[in-house]
Order: sequence, then C-alpha cells, then structure tokens
Amino acid sequence: MNLLNQIDPDKIPKHVAIIMDGNGRWAKQKGLMRVLGHRNGVKAVKQTIDAASELGVEVLTLYAFSTENWSRPKTEVKALMNLLVSSLKDELDNFQKKNIRLQTIGQTESLPKKAQKQLREVIELTKNNTSMVLNLALSYGSREEIVNTIKNISKKVVNKQLLIEEIDEKIINNHLYTFTLPDVDFLIRTSGEKRISNFLLWQIAYAEFYFTDVLWPDFRKEDFFKAIVEYQNRERRFGKTSEQIIK
Ligand code: IPE
Ligand code: IPE
Ligand code: MG
Repeated sequence: MNLLNQIDPDKIPKHVAIIMDGNGRWAKQKGLMRVLGHRNGVKAVKQTIDAASELGVEVLTLYAFSTENWSRPKTEVKALMNLLVSSLKDELDNFQKKNIRLQTIGQTESLPKKAQKQLREVIELTKNNTSMVLNLALSYGSREEIVNTIKNISKKVVNKQLLIEEIDEKIINNHLYTFTLPDVDFLIRTSGEKRISNFLLWQIAYAEFYFTDVLWPDFRKEDFFKAIVEYQNRERRFGKTSEQIIK
C-alpha cells in the first residue's frame, strides 16, 4: 500500500529533527572508506529534504556535524567540510525551486572559511523563501548552546537590560540558536543507535522519538514517510490524560 495515502495532511509535524547516523558503518559493510559513506549520505539528505518539503514540514533540522565530531581524524573532518561545500553548491537550485530557506545552528565560526562563505551565500540567496526552513546543525552541541545562552542572558542582567525575575522559559528559548524555530515535534535517528548525542536537549522536551536500523546512506523518501505514519499513530499527551486530548 502506498505510504503517502496513509499520511494525514492535517497532522504533519511542524519541526522534524534528524540524527543522520551510520555512514561509517555503511561504508565498512561494503569494504569502502568512511568518506564514501558520507558521500552516499548526501543522496539520503536530498531524498529527505524533498520528502519533508512535499509533506509540508515547516522546519527540517539535520544534525550534520557535532562539536564532538571535531575529534575525528583530520582527513575525515576535511572530507566532511568539502562535502558540505559541494552539496550546498549542488542543492541551491533545488532550494530555490522548492522555496526552501537555509539556516544553521551551532558554532559556524569554527568551520573552515570556505564553508562559512558558501553557507553565507546560500543563506542570503534563499532568505526570502517561505515553504520550508532547512536548518543545518553544524559544529553544534546542545551543551555549548546552553552555555552560550546562559552567557548572553547573564550579560543582559549585568547590563540591566533584564531582571533576574524576568527569566523564564520564553526568555531562554529566545536566546537559543533555535530562537526563531518551534520546538521539535519529531526526532528521527538512523543506524540503530538509541542516544541523543548532545542534540537539541532543550528543544526535544516533548518530541516523539523514532529509531530505525536503516543506515543513513540507505535512508529514502519511503523511510521518511514510514516514520511520519508512525508519528501520526502516536498520542501526544503533554502531561494530560488520554481523555483530555481533543480528537
Ligand atoms: C554520521 O555517520 C555522520 C556524521 C556523524 C558526520 P557516522 O560517520 O557517525 O557513521 P558511523 O556511526 O561511524 O557508522
Ligand atoms: C551524532 O552522530 C552527530 C551527527 C549525526 C552529526 P555521532 O556518530 O557523532 O554520535 P555518537 O558519537 O556515536 O553518539
Ligand atoms: Mg555515528
């Protein structure tokens, strides 16, 4: 049965976040170098962007490079950065065609200059697009984000722009890298690992989690649709009882 027919267009998660994992294992299984796993992961990225934009997802956040990933071998880090630059170049037309706006979260100032420049370019060229936000987490770590948030809020308190009594969840939200985005509704992790790996700790407070054994380079549109079908079969209670949830 066609998976698309099973999807309720009125219950599409607004914000989907994905931990794209398993590139290295995919390559290893095939006797290939890890870098080839990353390269093949780009296909999955394209399919996922297209699937999410087809369904009308408002925000798609992709975990592309964590603060911890800087500890990988230099050659792998370099290959990932080059792949970022070439993929951004290749995808620009698709972003424009599909009305997708690019943005980033994380310490992008730590990325190589070439990557920063390419990001700036695509962000600028797509800034008026309105159908979906593609949010790339790059040199992103949730704990770093929280440290950064606390520093910025503290500065405002010291400068008397903010009273301690005024600090609430909304103020904290407004100082995170994701300040323009809604909370994550649905978090997907591929490759069978069941952990968060320092991703969006604050923003996933009430997200639904979905883990699949599919390795990221094998992830296709159908896998995304399958995940959405499962999401739509969950009951999100937000602390209430089942009876209180308006059907
Ligand atoms: C995900 O795949 C890509 C990044 C973290 C950049 P991995 O490279 O982590 O693949 P595994 O986990 O080693 O299989
Ligand atoms: C998380 O994957 C980071 C990204 C997908 C970019 P990792 O493969 O780095 O996570 P751990 O270290 O295995 O938890
Ligand atoms: Mg991994």
